[in-house]
Amino acid sequence: MAAPSNNLKAELQELRKKIEHHNILYYRNDSPEITDQEYDGLFDRLLEIERAWPELVSADSPSQRVGSEPLGGFTQITHELPMLSLDKVFDESELHKFESRIQKRLGIEDAIEYSCEPKIDGVAVSLLYEAGLLVRAATRGDGKTGEDITHNVKTIADIPLRLEGKNIPSRLEVRGEIYMSKSGFARMNKEAVDAGEKVFVNPRNAAAGTLRQLDSRVTAKRPLTMFCYSYGLVEGGELPQSLSEVFECFDDWGLPVNPERQTCTGVEDSFNFCQQVLALRNNLDYEIDGVVIKVNHFALQNRLGMNARTPRWAIAYKFPAEEVSTSLLDVEFQVGRTGTITPVARLAPIFVGGVTVSNATLHNMDEVARLGIKIGDEVIIRRAGDVIPKIVSVILSRRPANAKEIISPPNCPVCHSDIEHIEDEVLMRCSGGLFCQAQRTQSIIHFASRAAMDIDGLGIKLIEQLVEKQLLNSVADIYSLQLESLTDLERMGDKSAANLLLAIEKSKQISLPRFLFALGIREVGEATAQSLASHFGRLEDIISATEEALMSIQDIGEVVAHHIRAFFTEAHNLEVIAQLQQAGVEPSETTPVQPETLPLNGQTFVVTGTLETMGRSEAKEKLQKLGAKVAGSVSAKTSCVVAGPGAGSKLNKAESLGVKVIDEDEFLSLLEQHDKTG
Ligand code: IVH
Repeated sequence: MAAPSNNLKAELQELRKKIEHHNILYYRNDSPEITDQEYDGLFDRLLEIERAWPELVSADSPSQRVGSEPLGGFTQITHELPMLSLDKVFDESELHKFESRIQKRLGIEDAIEYSCEPKIDGVAVSLLYEAGLLVRAATRGDGKTGEDITHNVKTIADIPLRLEGKNIPSRLEVRGEIYMSKSGFARMNKEAVDAGEKVFVNPRNAAAGTLRQLDSRVTAKRPLTMFCYSYGLVEGGELPQSLSEVFECFDDWGLPVNPERQTCTGVEDSFNFCQQVLALRNNLDYEIDGVVIKVNHFALQNRLGMNARTPRWAIAYKFPAEEVSTSLLDVEFQVGRTGTITPVARLAPIFVGGVTVSNATLHNMDEVARLGIKIGDEVIIRRAGDVIPKIVSVILSRRPANAKEIISPPNCPVCHSDIEHIEDEVLMRCSGGLFCQAQRTQSIIHFASRAAMDIDGLGIKLIEQLVEKQLLNSVADIYSLQLESLTDLERMGDKSAANLLLAIEKSKQISLPRFLFALGIREVGEATAQSLASHFGRLEDIISATEEALMSIQDIGEVVAHHIRAFFTEAHNLEVIAQLQQAGVEPSETTPVQPETLPLNGQTFVVTGTLETMGRSEAKEKLQKLGAKVAGSVSAKTSCVVAGPGAGSKLNKAESLGVKVIDEDEFLSLLEQHDKTG
């Protein structure tokens, strides 16, 4: 083919400019000037030219935003300058202390100028521009090393592939937060519900999950955006003397910056700004959890320097947990895996802390009494970063005349067996055992869950259908499911059914701790399962262990030993285990280890909030491998709390008890340290 003409090259340049211009109007300004069809027309023409003349494809062409073949894995990136975290404060007096510290260090008394902006609840990233071209994007990771996510970041329309304008340094590392808008999140989850797929719990998790996609074509379809808030490396050029001026440059060069930023003088002014942002919070289309206050002038920042992981010149003012009121429509009694019957509040759906809440657990009848609530009441809901919302109180002044008392059910609401009252009547338990369809369903849900056998695709809704149709009566039946019976189910295509069978097959190779945990023995959580596996090494030895032998393991007391023994004495359970083994489920043997030799032996950890680099169950597993116990709640006995963003009541409790709290960076260093020594 002949060489492309100059006319064609000019047309191509023009097209790229136009498309990027319309991208900004559409994604950033929310004010498109052309119809979707017109936009598609431009894009199709661009692709047509680039297909015909592949040598004209450039790294900054909008065609690079559509995503490409999945990567085999993520490459680690070492940040040339570390990405720091922020110290946080919760009230105005602590803000004053922050300013006093700064003034003392600088030896000045005048009020300081700050650049303030909302603290975005998203994922911290670094973008590297060389000669104006986006060449690399990485996650923050532990601050020192992150993951290369260039393939995904290039699909985000709001992020320029090339910076345009004057005085752009030849190497510039821009830092900021990638997030998913609230409206984009709601839209995406609605589509997921309609397609019967998994939904994300909140925009932050959705953004983090999307950036960890190996297949950037998936990322390209997700509504991600960014706000840039600082920079790292600068070479071959200079930036202005203050952050507020840097933001102006960023804006000129096409980088997205938050319009809700303000330069404030002194802490009082900054605190007023925090209050303004708080008032604005619900009207913003992105989630924030506070305001970041940064000393504006770099000369002062440099003089202040940093602590181990946080700069002395910045602070995060965190907003209080969100509370809203809604009405209690009903209370239902749910039967759990071990028969425990829990009152669950059905609420008029309400948006709080970034999610729509329509249920909240009431824990037990004591809690119902303590709150003094009745059906029909207006109640206050709090959601503090934690996924589980809580009813905190009732607005008695708004109690309707026909408010109804909440009464414990006389029998199991599912199988109608008798109810046993335990622990001074606080807990109720259905005595039906596996006769009870609810307990059967829950035990299968637990078995298939991520922390247990991790059978991808075997979710709650599907298990409920399978139990209902009597295709699953016990966990062993999972391994005799047939393609035909699966494809007969609602919303189950051939492909999903085949994938499910593959996932079931895969789960046959399982570690012993996971298998033990999956069995759902009362009081045997992941930590105990891990201890049992490490101590005995083989399933047979655990099955035949006496209560005494079980109690010789640290952390296994009389009650747990009794539950384990009782489980393995029950003929039905042994039969199910035999059936699982016959089907080919093979829990791998582990070499028994001496727990005393593990580095975190004797320590109890609690993991709360969302971690950026791993899921909570992965964090747990890592801690357990090092010998730590991982508990679900904080007490004076807790050795350490690992708190990610969004940590709520557990973090507060740890702080009030004086329990050590570490953030994700410190947690990763701890793991790394033991990885080397262990
Ligand atoms: S400035 C010295 N500005 O908060 C660190 N951080 O807790 C410079 N964050 O990992 C950070 N919004 O990802 C800054 N407007 C904002 C922010 C922000 C969110 C995140 C950031 C950092 C975390 C620290």
